[in-house]
Amino acid sequence: MKLLFLIVSMYLLGQNEGNPLSNKPRTFDNIKREIADYSDVAKKIINLAVYGKAQNRSYERLALFVDTIGPRLSGSKSLDLAIQYMYEALKKDGLENVHLEQVKIPHWERGEESAIMVQPRNHSLAILGLGGSIATPPEGITAEILVVTSFNELHQRAQEAQGKIVVYNQRYTNYGETVLYRSQGAVEAAKVGAKAALVKSIAPFSINSPHTGIQSYAIDIPKIPVACVSVEDAELMARMSSRGTKVVVSLKMGAQTYPDADSFNTVAEIVGSKYPEQVVLVSGHLDSWDVGQGAMDDGGGAFVSWEALSLIKDLGLRPKRTLRLVLWTGEEQGGVGAEQYYKLHKVNISNFDIVMESDEGTFMPSGLAFTGSDKARRIMKEIMKLLKPINITDVFENGEGTDISYWMQAGIPGASLHDDITKYFWFHHSQGDTMTVQNPREMNLCAAVWTVACYVIADMEEKLPV
Ligand SMILES: *[C@@H]1O[C@H](CO)[C@@H](O)[C@H](O)[C@H]1NC(C)=O
Ligand SMILES: *[C@@H]1O[C@H](CO)[C@@H](O)[C@H](O)[C@H]1NC(C)=O
Ligand SMILES: *[C@@H]1O[C@H](CO)[C@@H](O)[C@H](O)[C@H]1NC(C)=O
Ligand SMILES: *[C@@H]1O[C@H](CO)[C@@H](O)[C@H](O)[C@H]1NC(C)=O
Ligand SMILES: [Zn+2]
Repeated sequence: MKLLFLIVSMYLLGQNEGNPLSNKPRTFDNIKREIADYSDVAKKIINLAVYGKAQNRSYERLALFVDTIGPRLSGSKSLDLAIQYMYEALKKDGLENVHLEQVKIPHWERGEESAIMVQPRNHSLAILGLGGSIATPPEGITAEILVVTSFNELHQRAQEAQGKIVVYNQRYTNYGETVLYRSQGAVEAAKVGAKAALVKSIAPFSINSPHTGIQSYAIDIPKIPVACVSVEDAELMARMSSRGTKVVVSLKMGAQTYPDADSFNTVAEIVGSKYPEQVVLVSGHLDSWDVGQGAMDDGGGAFVSWEALSLIKDLGLRPKRTLRLVLWTGEEQGGVGAEQYYKLHKVNISNFDIVMESDEGTFMPSGLAFTGSDKARRIMKEIMKLLKPINITDVFENGEGTDISYWMQAGIPGASLHDDITKYFWFHHSQGDTMTVQNPREMNLCAAVWTVACYVIADMEEKLPV
């Protein structure tokens, strides 16, 4: 009897370690050891993605996709084609539960547009209407401009703005701060009686490239047409105005907003072996602006996320939790597809382990940015040590991504790919966002980082602590 008791209790003691049902919390040393045991798997993933058969695959797949489909504006035919293309491609790749989830997204088209400086001399301005802008009357708006460098200056010179076209020549500090001139520029100009607004493109570097993006109107403030101009043209008009020269611009925009369109978030999975109901979500967005190819924003992020599932499948791995790839729609309109996804799926929020999105380029990666508890951050740091073979091991603050923000705000850990964004805003939302800015070797490294992280999180004995 005594011996049996001893054997049974030793057995139970052994079970205790790593048992999620055990009341005894695992020590951090246990967790560290569990993670270190993935070093062979991590090496296999790295070898396949960076040196092996899958080398350059995400790049080649992306090139074929964007060269075939082109840009993918919310509500457009080409976005529909892109979704159909990806649905077929994910099925052909042998992923599981490939399906589309219907959502409604905005449908805006820029139509014909032009802006000509007609005084003091004729000069055609490089513009792109901003997403959601109204049109000008068919004959256009011809008016003198008022150049300001800030909202403050606009408010101080409010008397001068009446009936003019306000030109914002703000200084670029960083994207998050400077983008307010794009998103709020029309509203602020309309408040002081302007007829239209032109916003210096939100870019730290330019070869006369206009950079579009979403903007919003406010209830009770008149809607006025708004477009971005190139950095060069904004500065030209600013110099002329500061010399006291009267500058007149003739702006024509044929933009139109149609009823919301049907679209889809595109989903594929590798179903978990032990906790199939629990989810590690990896994602990028499939829609883009209507210029360039949307190769960088966010083709790269979408395709390294797909690559993560492909690599795991190719290695014959199946994590304990479900790895779910979501290719969002309507991101550029303010995370519209992702918001509907969140509303539908939040009933299962307790089953979400982490939400990941790559939407800030797939240039040379340096690690992950992470939002979550201190405990979870310590675990992420251990996981990232598995990427020592390629020396990409950093964990930064503030995981971000418009599409995953809904989950992070509700307390779910979130991660984004952290890469060298030096050139990101050179190309962002412009004709320059093409395959030419992507680099196959950098994409391989991004895929390796992304895959090791999501696989290990999905396979660990316990979910990340919240
Ligand atoms: C991957 O791309 C790099 C850089 O363009 C190239 O040097 C290499 O040969 C490519 N590898 C394969 C297997 O195509
Ligand atoms: C500017 O262009 C308009 C319209 O094409 C033309 O009528 C006008 O003569 C031009 N002005 C100058 C100074 O070239
Ligand atoms: C919630 O999770 C359960 C179990 O995995 C699943 O059957 C159900 O479809 C999920 N519901 C939603 C809305 O995601
Ligand atoms: C690893 O990366 C760090 C910066 O992230 C750099 O300082 C260091 O030189 C790199 N080491 C190797 C061996 O590449
Ligand atoms: Zn994006």
